[in-house]
Amino acid sequence: MPNRPYIVGNWKMNGTRAMLAEARAIDRGAARYPSVRVGVAPPFTLVSAMAEALQTASVGAQDCHAEASGAFTGNVSAPMLGDAGASFVIVGHSERRAMHGETDSMVRAKAEAALAAGLEVIVCVGETEAERDAGQAEAVVTGQVAASLPQGEGIVPRVTVAYEPVWAIGTGRVPSVDDVGAMHRAIRAQLLESYGDEGAIVRILYGGSVNAGNAANLLAADEVGGALVGGASLTADAFLPIVLAAASPDAE
Ligand code: 13P
Repeated sequence: MPNRPYIVGNWKMNGTRAMLAEARAIDRGAARYPSVRVGVAPPFTLVSAMAEALQTASVGAQDCHAEASGAFTGNVSAPMLGDAGASFVIVGHSERRAMHGETDSMVRAKAEAALAAGLEVIVCVGETEAERDAGQAEAVVTGQVAASLPQGEGIVPRVTVAYEPVWAIGTGRVPSVDDVGAMHRAIRAQLLESYGDEGAIVRILYGGSVNAGNAANLLAADEVGGALVGGASLTADAFLPIVLAAASPDAE
């Protein structure tokens, strides 16, 4: 089921071993909805333990370095993540672009490093509120897609894009379904330009204040292939209703 919806939890800088029980509960829930692909990206410190604990949901990381090894104190490379049991990496999250100065070309290098290590990648893009107010949202986002997307032979099936408007992250504000659909169509057009026909298979996730109450609406928007969820992914009680919202009607 290559095109089944993909619901990913980004735990950000939250979680100690005590939260593995929550991850196991998410995993048991994921097993009940086989029509949905579920992933969880905990902090680096939990990747290994979570990869051992989960059976259905895939486990990923929230960043990787562009180099495989070397004198980069404090960083973690893509091969190390694979060794720890991760199967995917989120790159270019707006919190990393804003707080760690990550540019499109750095994001692309990280994505290519992840793919070279055999991992899947979720490449994040999104405009700030000022950019949206200035009427620049689509230009900014499609520009980020064009410049951040990894290139390489045979990689496209392992690439996912996440559209996360910066102003919707952690704020409880979400764009209208029409605005989400318009942006996802623009991202699809850019994917087709960047990858040719293969660009049609790349899933585009929506992220930013997704919760149990708004998930069904957001997931129904044009070209939305799933969700990247922050705050509401930290407990099974908050996260599983989002997975259910993505499940095919005949899945229950
Ligand atoms: P929230 O769901 O907490 O708004 O976070 C979204 C996000 O940044 C996921 O990567």
